[in-house]
Amino acid sequence: MRPLKIHELKSVYEMMSLKGKVALVTGGAGGIGRSCAAGLAEVGANIVLMDIPQKENLLKENCKAISDRYGTKAIYVMGDVSDEASVKNAYDEIVKELGTVDVIFSNAGIAYNEDNPHTLSLEDWQKMVDINLTGVFLVDRIGANLMKSHGHGGSIINTASMSGHIINRMPRDKMDKHMVAYAATKAGVVHLTKSIAINYVDYNIRCNSISPGLILSGLHDHMDMSELEKLCEHVPMKRFATLNEIIGIVVYLATDLSSYVTGSDFIIDGGFTIW
Ligand SMILES: NC(=O)c1ccc[n+]([C@@H]2O[C@H](COP(=O)([O-])OP(=O)(O)OC[C@H]3O[C@@H](n4cnc5c(N)ncnc54)[C@H](O)[C@@H]3O)[C@@H](O)[C@H]2O)c1
Repeated sequence: MRPLKIHELKSVYEMMSLKGKVALVTGGAGGIGRSCAAGLAEVGANIVLMDIPQKENLLKENCKAISDRYGTKAIYVMGDVSDEASVKNAYDEIVKELGTVDVIFSNAGIAYNEDNPHTLSLEDWQKMVDINLTGVFLVDRIGANLMKSHGHGGSIINTASMSGHIINRMPRDKMDKHMVAYAATKAGVVHLTKSIAINYVDYNIRCNSISPGLILSGLHDHMDMSELEKLCEHVPMKRFATLNEIIGIVVYLATDLSSYVTGSDFIIDGGFTIW
């Protein structure tokens, strides 16, 4: 064993390639899902987008845009990540159409406008846990077991949130409106990631999470824009991220560029959690 010389190093571009690999992206009709799916396709992956049946038109549109722009295969499956049968069915479809899965971006999630412990209904708490936490667990473990049974490694990337590390600061007039279910489920995703990482490390399956800050996406469709702009005052960079600014970390984690990285979480928040 000795350290490598410069001429022995791999090419960064080769390490970044996903040519011939298959990547599943859940929440593939949404903002972060579609932008990261595009990034994964650009480095060569064939793409499977998964989202709920109500989003079929967007899924179709995103698949066409990806295959037109990058020339890779892009198909979609409809289903609910919180439903085990639905997730199993999605992987069955993937195996039937593309043979296997190498990269899993377990990204589907929901957020509420009102999510505080004073008033949140138990039903809404449960729904958030089912989708944001159980959904990630199901997509990860069924996918990891598939990779294991196919005898190859892979990379799993879970979408947590900076809200899994901190409680997003609300304006002074809303001091009793800080989020509860979203923050709890996303903290769960950060820790779930570490457990998946250690349980599958011997199978060459890596698992990491990303923790975005404020990324302008479909998640904010039902929210008040002036309230959101107020939130940006807490961001040192004083702005939302665009959907371009989340792609790099997902491509990095999906590829051999990050081959020694597992069980880690990456915060992409314009500095929000510095304060
Ligand atoms: N945008 C942000 O500022 C931000 C910040 C931190 C974390 N996140 C997380 O990023 C992920 C992606 O969100 P986004 O910002 O792209 O929002 P988005 O609303 O544009 O996308 C989320 C997608 O998940 C899908 N989805 C919801 N429930 C589902 C289910 N049961 N089964 C399958 N798909 C389902 C939605 O239909 C939607 O297309 C989410 O997990 C979200 O919590 C977003």
